[in-house]
Amino acid sequence: MTVLKAVIPAAGLGTRFLPATKAQPKEMMPIVDKPAIQYVVEETVGAGIKDILIVTGRGKRSLADHFDRSFELEYYLKQSGKLEQLQEILKISEIANFYFARQPEPLGLGHAISVSEKFVENSSFAVLLADDLMATNSKVLSEMVKLHNDTNKVVLALKEVKKAEVPLYGCVDFENTENKNLVRVKQVVEKPSVEDAPSNLAIMGRYIFNSDIFGYLKKVVPGKSGEIQLTDAISYYLNDHEVLGYIFTSERYDIGNKIEYLRTNIEFALQREDLRDEFLKVLAEAAEKYLH
Ligand code: UTP
Repeated sequence: MTVLKAVIPAAGLGTRFLPATKAQPKEMMPIVDKPAIQYVVEETVGAGIKDILIVTGRGKRSLADHFDRSFELEYYLKQSGKLEQLQEILKISEIANFYFARQPEPLGLGHAISVSEKFVENSSFAVLLADDLMATNSKVLSEMVKLHNDTNKVVLALKEVKKAEVPLYGCVDFENTENKNLVRVKQVVEKPSVEDAPSNLAIMGRYIFNSDIFGYLKKVVPGKSGEIQLTDAISYYLNDHEVLGYIFTSERYDIGNKIEYLRTNIEFALQREDLRDEFLKVLAEAAEKYLH
């Protein structure tokens, strides 16, 4: 079944980014001059998916407003001859069909995805986490969609991480296939200790599911904090079905933590022709000033 729908959960509390996330979702934090979620939406559309559900909680308005028309702003830009900016903001609302659903309480990523059941119906669908950004023009999601179309199987995005970093991720136990970018996932373990980790292949925030996952999400027993973990549902799913892991080596940016967020801004700015030269000078001056 081809993948025509995507779900972007954006209802987390973003506690690692307080106070910036007190009144705005983490997903709206800018990387250079675009909110993080816009990069993820563009990646989704680049993989041929046009129906996008954003799961929101608090701060719903800014997310919905960002992807909606803004007649006042459009009028102002037109009147003042700022036609380039006008085209830029018109593009945002036209790029895809946006739907919104509310997660009443932040009860975990698994719970956020279960909110999308009505939108998904019986289709296959992609899930993208907006705090994981892929390199510009990344083909990871397109490759995962292709893989799903060919096999009809659930596909997880995997990337090798340093052994010391496995406690930050969900990690997989796997079997190789004849394709070096493709593994059969045997087991998933959420945030294992370095000693207990089955491998250093970590699940990154891109998934292709089919609607069977909702039944498995319902079986998940909430953890101590009441959270429903997506990895638990994937574990149950694995008891009955084969799951594929697509290993990618291209860059990925975890903007959920401060240092990586800053690095992402620097790299994305340096990749922009309009900013690169001037910004490099700024960085060199800052390095001279602060490096001792
Ligand atoms: P994270 O755990 O990275 O986000 O969830 P968080 O909980 O907002 O961040 P911290 O740890 O408190 O700083 C991964 C993604 O899942 C969404 C988040 O918005 C984020 O995009 N999420 C998480 C939900 O939509 N609902 C939840 O209940 C939890």
